[in-house]
Amino acid sequence: MSEQRQILVTSALPYANGPIHLGHMLEYIQTDIWVRFQRSRGHEVYFIWADDAHGTPIMLRAQKEGITPEELIAKSQVEHQADFDDFLISYDNFYTTHSDENKELSCLIYNRLKDKGHITSRTITQAYDAEANMFLPDRFIRGDCPRCGTGDQYGDSCESCGATYDPTDLKNPVSAITGTTPTEKDSEHYFFKLGDFESMLQTWLADDKVQPEIANKLAEWFETGLNDWDISRDAPYFGFEIPDAPGKYFYVWLDAPIGYMASFSDYAKRKNLDFDQWWGADSTTELHHFIGKDIAYFHTLFWPAMLEGADFRKPTGVYCHGFLTVNGQKMSKSRGTFIMARTWLERLDPEYLRYYYAAKLGNGVEDIDLNLEDLVARVNSDLVGKVVNIASRCAGFIKKNFDGTLADQAGKPELIDAAMKLSETIADHYEKREYGHAMRKIMALADQTNQYIDEQKPWQAIKDEAQHADVQRVCTDGINCFRILMTYLKPVLPKLAASAEEFLNAGELSWQDSQTPLYGSTIKPFKALMTRIEADKVNEMVEASKQDLVATPTGPLAEDPLSEEIVYDDFAKVDLRVVRIAKAEHVEGADKLLQLTLDLGGEQRNVFAGIKSAYDPADLEGKLTVMVANLAPRKMRFGLSEGMVLAAGPGGDELYILNPDNGAKPGMRVK
Ligand code: MSP
Ligand code: ZN
Repeated sequence: MSEQRQILVTSALPYANGPIHLGHMLEYIQTDIWVRFQRSRGHEVYFIWADDAHGTPIMLRAQKEGITPEELIAKSQVEHQADFDDFLISYDNFYTTHSDENKELSCLIYNRLKDKGHITSRTITQAYDAEANMFLPDRFIRGDCPRCGTGDQYGDSCESCGATYDPTDLKNPVSAITGTTPTEKDSEHYFFKLGDFESMLQTWLADDKVQPEIANKLAEWFETGLNDWDISRDAPYFGFEIPDAPGKYFYVWLDAPIGYMASFSDYAKRKNLDFDQWWGADSTTELHHFIGKDIAYFHTLFWPAMLEGADFRKPTGVYCHGFLTVNGQKMSKSRGTFIMARTWLERLDPEYLRYYYAAKLGNGVEDIDLNLEDLVARVNSDLVGKVVNIASRCAGFIKKNFDGTLADQAGKPELIDAAMKLSETIADHYEKREYGHAMRKIMALADQTNQYIDEQKPWQAIKDEAQHADVQRVCTDGINCFRILMTYLKPVLPKLAASAEEFLNAGELSWQDSQTPLYGSTIKPFKALMTRIEADKVNEMVEASKQDLVATPTGPLAEDPLSEEIVYDDFAKVDLRVVRIAKAEHVEGADKLLQLTLDLGGEQRNVFAGIKSAYDPADLEGKLTVMVANLAPRKMRFGLSEGMVLAAGPGGDELYILNPDNGAKPGMRVK
């Protein structure tokens, strides 16, 4: 085999303020397959990454949960790692960006950039929340879209019409933190002069470091010119304070990619690896980043420029993948397709998803669709029906008739040769991240093998003593093809491969083992290696994902969270009674109120209710509703209001009265 390479691989660091979902897993599985493939080829490979622990959202999230950011990120790290372990992600180190190593490296890189004149500062004006005493990131300003007028949009773009704009363009802007109207405030910011690196970046990018689609995108950015990059944020901020700049913090995106180095540094200390050999400017090792297309700008411009400016090595390759859609649409909480990693793991084998993603992944940046029906069909037909089936059809004959011993030679050497020869083609597909191509070649080989067994009909031949030697060879061919297939599939299906290794009884499979078929050795009894995927389980998962929505409310519950808990006695103090609306009238001079005469079953009450916008008074007369009957009377501009009726609405003036069900009578207590 070719010489041993030294390869460092990363996935993008997940934010520590949310759970891992199947979109993240697309990237992490893509990375893991590549890593496992490289390891099986005998290279020295390290897969290192971390949680991305800094930034405003994490700070605010911790505040909301009433814990410290440190507690929040510690909890997240444990949960994230559990998800990755259970999805069989074979990382070597999963660290955090909130570490001493990262602080040290971030300051070092910043100081080097500063010493070389790549850092500048100037005063900028930004939205400010005077009540929260903090500057507002774009995402934390909401208001009406300046183009289409849709309410409650982010400060940078409209989800309804797709317009992008500055937060200052928003109409009726409010701070998402306190709901107050943002003011503006000046502050000094630090900037990284990206433009200093334009020609270096042009050269670096021309050298096949990124996919052609990304190179084209970058060419557009070069045309519009490379702007200075704002790398500082004012306190309060959860991150690292900038050296010699009290109250100023590194923007999360500055220290996030440095987190790759910090994770390696932590690992290197424990494993006695030489940090400089891997990160020094003249390093001969490889550095590969797997990322989503949304963060290409950071990894293909800022990051190589920072590394160059601070005398470190630059990446060997940055690979972007597209976004995950489910059943052809953007992942959606209401459709149950915003599926958390854990929700999958609680019901389904991680290898089903690993295989499906592998079958769909190429080296481009197109979005990838997880079609749940297709997933069930493919897993069952390819893995269970084709690959595992080969072993299950051959193992029985070998066990029963030949004491578990394989033949001394092949029945059809051309078949085995062809299977072996695929090794380099498939390796090339993996190397180029064309997993879909690799899976197709592998399944074609599985088809050929099954066809061969069909033709040879060992189940008939075994009835004739004279043909026994042939049966042993045919089944040996089948077992050898299965073994070769498993060698090729092992980067995708490590657990299935481990069960196959146990059954084949000839050690752990690495890539080279595809070239050494087994003859004369003994296999172990065959046990079911993989079960069929049940469509019911998939449906259950979708249902459960809809329920996840209840746990993390959006809509009314999110905007108007539940009130403080009360005890029964508090509730019992409120005397709720069924009433009949005897009369409903407009109130002169009031645009929201209706005057209601309520029949409490013997007693009458006069109540002013703010329900005018949804009702014509005549329609209300005769209806039952519920009132708070022991509320102290209140004097209003139009008269005395002797209680309140229960009504609910989305906010503003739109309110709907509550109706008791059949059987309730005026005067009855509501309990
Ligand atoms: N913290 C940053 C990355 C810093 S890297 C120095 C970040 N975090 S993230 O949690 O939002 O995303 C992590 C990775 O998951 C990114 O590469 C992102 O593209 C990917 N994905 C997140 N959602 C995704 C889909 N729905 N589909 C595919 N990949 C997606 O960005
Ligand atoms: Zn809009």
